[in-house]
Amino acid sequence: MKVLFSEEQIRKRVEEVAQEIDSVFPHEPPIIVGVLNGAFIFTADLVRSMRSFVEIDFIRASSYGYFAETSGKVKITKDMEKSVLGRDVVVVEDILDSGITLNFIKGWLQKKQPRSLRFCVLLDKKALRKEPFVAEHVCFSIDDGFVVGYGLDYGERYRNLSNIQLLVGEENAKCS
Ligand code: XMP
Ligand code: MG
Repeated sequence: MKVLFSEEQIRKRVEEVAQEIDSVFPHEPPIIVGVLNGAFIFTADLVRSMRSFVEIDFIRASSYGYFAETSGKVKITKDMEKSVLGRDVVVVEDILDSGITLNFIKGWLQKKQPRSLRFCVLLDKKALRKEPFVAEHVCFSIDDGFVVGYGLDYGERYRNLSNIQLLVGEENAKCS
């Protein structure tokens, strides 16, 4: 395992992105839609760094199998509780990789007719896109390689690492 982003680097960057989103919505606060499970820590930190009184909801999407291989098919396995009709929505996702998951979520949310729809991702693996997708807010761009920590898992493991690490092999990591 190799540390890509430390706890401190993440904290600083998440604060900057939170301010970026705040500045887009100076009047009416948006609904923040976190994508479970990977984005649960990022969403929690992001909203705590925001100054707007946001509303928060979660969806759950599955596209990957239990480990690192994508199945290519996306399913929404948990819907939102709130209506987004006529509202400004910011989807918060852990990682943008092939683009398949966020493109699916985009189409799915557009049918619910929000006033606006933006995407905020912790990590962007730009080089690996299979479908074009541009997120309006990106914390860090990374190269290829499977990453874990700060909510991201490998077979449900490593989510509770405080930093973001590159998974090399299937080593054991100490959760700090
Ligand atoms: P796509 O390919 O649809 O992928 O853009 C987005 C989803 O895939 C998962 N994903 C990862 N999860 N480390 C992870 O823990 C990674 O390096 C990684 N790459 C993709 C992630 O759940 C995301 O929602
Ligand atoms: Mg995952």
